[in-house]
Amino acid sequence: MAERVFVFGAGYVGLVTGACLATSGHTVTVLDVDERKLESLRKGECPFFEPGLSEVITKALAAGTLSFSLLGDIEAVENIAVIAVGTPSTATGSADMTYVRAVADFLEEKAAPGTVVVMKSTVPPGTGAKLSARLAAAGLGYASNPEFLREGSAVTDWFETDRVVIGGDDASVAKISRLYADMDSPILACDVTSAEMIKYASNAFLATKISFINEIAVLCDFVGASVDDVSKGIGMDTRIGASFLKPGIGYGGSCFPKDTRALDFLATLNGYDFHLLRSVIDVNSRQRLLPVRALKARFGSLEGHRVALLGLTFKPETDDTREAPAIEIAELLQAEGAEVVGFNPIPVTIPGLDTIATTIEEAVSGADAIVLSTEWAQIVESNWPALVASMTGERIVFDGRNALDPKVIRAAGGSYIGVGRPEGVGANNHAG
Ligand code: NAD
Ligand code: UGA
Repeated sequence: MAERVFVFGAGYVGLVTGACLATSGHTVTVLDVDERKLESLRKGECPFFEPGLSEVITKALAAGTLSFSLLGDIEAVENIAVIAVGTPSTATGSADMTYVRAVADFLEEKAAPGTVVVMKSTVPPGTGAKLSARLAAAGLGYASNPEFLREGSAVTDWFETDRVVIGGDDASVAKISRLYADMDSPILACDVTSAEMIKYASNAFLATKISFINEIAVLCDFVGASVDDVSKGIGMDTRIGASFLKPGIGYGGSCFPKDTRALDFLATLNGYDFHLLRSVIDVNSRQRLLPVRALKARFGSLEGHRVALLGLTFKPETDDTREAPAIEIAELLQAEGAEVVGFNPIPVTIPGLDTIATTIEEAVSGADAIVLSTEWAQIVESNWPALVASMTGERIVFDGRNALDPKVIRAAGGSYIGVGRPEGVGANNHAG
């Protein structure tokens, strides 16, 4: 049965949710406060880079099931209202609930009684219990329906999600389940607070896997083991699983960093010291220092050295640079006196980095070091012998994602440094 749906927020989550629900036959209006975003959407253009999303939007617009509106222009909201606005970090690490509160206030005033408010934004466990009581007084239902998509593969993740989690009372769960009727994914129904915790625990666990393999990589460097093989070997155990065991300069993005901080804040607020999570966060901060430490160990001072920083987004196939490791690495390299030239396969800017080349060749030519911070295919599949040949001096290639073939770099006269990929016992010792 087709449902009438209003989605608040035309960001990565809101737009994917709205467009995908609309292609499944639901009638969806996506609302935002950003007029520029809406203008491009009405023309059928996606306001950010997300593979496959433009096609889904175009299909839904052609089917007449998707529309866009400025928040201030909407008169009535009914049936299902999905909140998908941002919940960034505050200075204390807690989740900033300003945007969620603004939408909740709006719905309290404008939504027709009987409307079910669905929280897709990642909000701290406990939020829904309070908010649902307030909304109930206005005759509105409530469900928590956290989102698990990844940027760069958001559309596929939407349609092929491992599970749909819906927290709420039986009536709300039954109603929201209908949104996913055409999908094969299992639905886990639970209470609102547990649904909220599932979202934070999922992100914290994935972040833990990354920091764990990063610690193992450091040890691999000490003892001369290959983390590539170790990661593969432990991942073949189905109890462990092969995913999220890629070592490197650590996780970035708009979610893992802020969500681990928010969960840590929640623990502290409750008087609980979440040791493990704090270590996960600390390890991740340390990983970003690796390229700077490696280059300092080779060059002594970075003064007068030119470094090409390749890949500026927090992961490939997105234009999102929120908390990208490249930002901190550029800042640290420049603070040490290096001249940094950035490159990213799709045009982006990052704070504090003024020089961004338009081609990888331009960025690398004349550099005496490269730091690969994001493993875009366009970077990994470049002509590395030619790139290394165009460098000068020691031609150091720091591969922050273990994505390059060390043999190719070395054969071209470059000096390869990976993370947990030692040349011989202790050869690439980053720790200490
Ligand atoms: P985003 O910053 O890309 O988009 C948020 C949008 O909300 C913006 O377009 C903004 O203009 C709009 N907005 C702000 N106030 C509004 C209001 N009052 N009414 C309507 N629109 C308003 O955010 P995002 O990355 O899509 O994340 C949204 C939420 O989903 C966050 O809580 C995030 O943690 C969670 N989440 C994100 C991802 C992801 O991959 N980005 C995945 C899962 C969950
Ligand atoms: C992540 C989760 O994977 C999603 O399930 C979740 O919905 C989302 O956060 C969210 O809550 O917003 P996303 O941040 O888009 O998705 O991207 P990931 O593919 O998870 O990568 C996050 C970061 O971890 C990237 O910087 C990536 O380079 C890094 N990473 C990932 C590693 O360092 N090693 C790995 O093995 C995997």
